[in-house]
Amino acid sequence: MTKKKLNIGLVGAGFMGRTHSNAFRQVGQFFGGEYEPVLKAIATRNAKGAADFAANWGYESSESDWRKLIERKDIDLIDIASPNDTHAEIAIAAAEAGKMVMCEKPLGRNAAEAEKMVAAVEAAGVANMVWYNYRRVPAVTLAKQMIDEGRLGRIFHYRAKFLQDWTISADVPQGGMGTWRLDASVAGSGVTGDLLAHCIDTALWLNGGIDSVTAATETFVKQRSHAVSGKVEEVKIDDASAFLARFENGSLATFEATRYARGHKALYTLEINGEKGSIAWDLHDLHRLQFFDHGDDGHLRGWRSIHITDGDHPYMSHWWVPGLQIGYEHSFIHQAADFLGGLASGTPAAPTFRDALRTDYVTDAVLASARSGRWEAVKG
Ligand SMILES: NC(=O)c1ccc[n+]([C@@H]2O[C@H](COP(=O)([O-])OP(=O)(O)OC[C@H]3O[C@@H](n4cnc5c(N)ncnc54)[C@H](O)[C@@H]3O)[C@@H](O)[C@H]2O)c1
Repeated sequence: MTKKKLNIGLVGAGFMGRTHSNAFRQVGQFFGGEYEPVLKAIATRNAKGAADFAANWGYESSESDWRKLIERKDIDLIDIASPNDTHAEIAIAAAEAGKMVMCEKPLGRNAAEAEKMVAAVEAAGVANMVWYNYRRVPAVTLAKQMIDEGRLGRIFHYRAKFLQDWTISADVPQGGMGTWRLDASVAGSGVTGDLLAHCIDTALWLNGGIDSVTAATETFVKQRSHAVSGKVEEVKIDDASAFLARFENGSLATFEATRYARGHKALYTLEINGEKGSIAWDLHDLHRLQFFDHGDDGHLRGWRSIHITDGDHPYMSHWWVPGLQIGYEHSFIHQAADFLGGLASGTPAAPTFRDALRTDYVTDAVLASARSGRWEAVKG
């Protein structure tokens, strides 16, 4: 079968630029399919950085301005892997030029920005997706399957945490390469839009919509020097964020994220407790799903640790032989595979921009509640 070529124009040559490039390079070998991604061009602000990235990852060309990618007739899809303040402008311009758009999370710096992005891709009728990759960790995908099969029964509790410790030192600057996440004008918010957005996306997918939230945030280091201007400025992002949520299905939830949990580098954990059973997952042990089934015989009942490596586990038949595990980067390969599969079938793979907007509604409500000190309803 002759494959349809899908010419990719990537924006951003950092952490996510690498995970996406790796995904587009590998997806065809492991998942086959009708479409063949072609690494056509990469744009980043620095011409040398773009050229070096292109040479390393096998892109045919490079640009120092993302607008050039959008003007090019030979680009079918714009893939946005640059900081949050660039997402809306690039996505809207790409959609208006008739390009498909894949965008890193969070979709917008706030829901108002994300709504414009949704309107643009829907008006243009272009395929779109947001890289909430944790849905595609096979253990998390299996959790979704088990919930849909009714194995947990009625859900009472959802509990998620995302813990890091890399900003404890007051010497870490805000703004600039790598530390743009601490600059509210670039990032939109702190851990709420960064880490909690992942937890919220997974939760909306596994447990349905969130009605209302009540939150507290804290900024532990109040001033930092700016990496670009060198000036000491007020820190306007949330360093830590914790909230309670009520889901539409009646369950009660707690979410917490921080960059001040000494000893934790990137610990995303979730636990769901239902009437018939419970599930727990941990990013540091991502190929395992913990499951407690209350239906087991009483004398055998206990938490079991399922090693998600068998051919009948989600995505795993595309990888190695049973018993051999995969890792973080594979979640992006799975996402690329699902996006391409959606193009081929005509049924878009989730989360689309519209799906991801729901996460921005929740993060907006969390930040509003932290300001007001009250429960806030979630829009949508
Ligand atoms: N899905 C995930 O798990 C995950 C993980 C990390 C980051 N992210 C998201 O991915 C995005 C990028 O984060 P990152 O960690 O890769 O950042 P990064 O700082 O590692 O890289 C950002 C890249 O974008 C480039 N860039 C900045 N402004 C640009 C512009 N105007 N035009 C073109 N290129 C520009 C930089 O030069 C750099 O190459 C963010 O939105 C972030 O929230 C998602």
